This record gives sequence, structure tokens and C-alpha cells, in this order.
Amino acid sequence: MSRGLFITVEGIEGVGKSTNLEYVNESLVAAGIDVVVTREPGGTDLGEKIRGLLLDHRNTTMADDTELLLMFAARAQHLAEVIEPALAQGQWVLCDRFTDATYAYQGGGRGIAMGRIAELERWVQGDLRPDTTLLLDAPVEVGLARAAGRPQEADRFEREKQGFFEKIRQAYLHMAAQQSPRYHIIDASQPLDQVKVALNEVINQLVKSRLD
Ligand code: TMP
Repeated sequence: MSRGLFITVEGIEGVGKSTNLEYVNESLVAAGIDVVVTREPGGTDLGEKIRGLLLDHRNTTMADDTELLLMFAARAQHLAEVIEPALAQGQWVLCDRFTDATYAYQGGGRGIAMGRIAELERWVQGDLRPDTTLLLDAPVEVGLARAAGRPQEADRFEREKQGFFEKIRQAYLHMAAQQSPRYHIIDASQPLDQVKVALNEVINQLVKSRLD
């Protein structure tokens, strides 16, 4: 049995990650692929508890290194319990955020040295990296305006200022420029139908690569 593909979906707040991730999942399932959908931080019982700590807006004194290490603690559990076993069994893993979010948020946003994140990445993941990353990209004002329309209370990250998200967006775009073939930048400011057309192109390519 061949190993499954590891696909991640990234982007700042309000770029339509959940809607588009669901669309990618439905398309893969329709193509006969066995897909495991999961998310970070989270994806396991323990990881979801860590997520609770990370997103709780009452945790106002969390140090940047604590935030970074909690992200990787949740990730270590997620890899051991969900991602590695699924890929080994030939399932495809579709993950809402992964380590690129750490480079973008903790590196770009908080200003932690990228080299320090790379050390943790090597430690926790070994050689494992996503096979494909869909970066949903839109101007920060567009994303924040959409996120502000949500009924839930803003979490610890969503309470950050526009400048924080500008740095995150730039970090994502920088990684995408440096690591293209893996990255596909999708213009998420277009109408949803056009976003789906762009996603279809990538999905078809991936499915075809598996059938060849
Ligand atoms: P979500 O809103 O996409 O579910 O993600 C939760 C928040 O966690 C989001 O604001 C981005 C943040 N995050 C990081 O800061 N670093 C990470 O490594 C991950 C996976 C998420």
C-alpha cells in the first residue's frame, strides 16, 4: 500500500479556510480517496485541550515561547496519534493548518527566530513535511472584515491588531515564494465559485498524480 498524501490548508483569519477545506474534502471523497480531515492546534483529545489553552483570550500573560512550545506539543501528539498512522495506511490527511502556521504566526507575527522553529520542526517531525499546501490568500482588511462578522467571541489570536496579521500574511507569501512546487497560492478575495475553480485545478492534479 502506498503512503497517503499530506495536504495542508493555510491562511490568515477570514480567508474562508473552513468552507474551502470542506470543498476540498468533498471533491477528494468524490474521487474515491479515503480522507482524514483534521486540524491544528488540535486533532486529538489532548491536542484539543492544548488548543483551549492557546485560544483562551483570558490567557493574556502567555509568553511567546510558551505559545510556540504548546503548538509543537499539540503537534507531537497529533503526529503520533492521527497523522502518521493515517498516512502509513494510505489515507490522505487534509489538515487545517500545520507548521507553516507556526512559521507565519509565531515567527512572522510574534518575531520568534525562524531557526528556532526549524529546530523544533526537525525534532518533532523528523523528515515529515506536507506534500501540498493550499495557501488561501487575501488582503488583511478583507479577512478581518469577514472574521469580524462571526457570531463567536474573538479568541486570543483574533484580538490581535491588523499589523500582526500583515506580518503573518507576508511570512506566508515569503514561504510560498521560496518553496513553490509544494505551495499553491489561491486568491481567496475572488468570489467563492472562482476560488473553487482554482482549487479544482490543484485537486485534479493531485488525484491524477496518484492514478499515474
Ligand atoms: P484556526 O482559527 O484556524 O482554527 O486556528 C487557530 C489559531 O491558531 C489561528 O489564529 C492561528 C493559530 N495558530 C498559530 O498561531 N500557530 C500554529 O502553529 C497553528 C497551527 C495555529
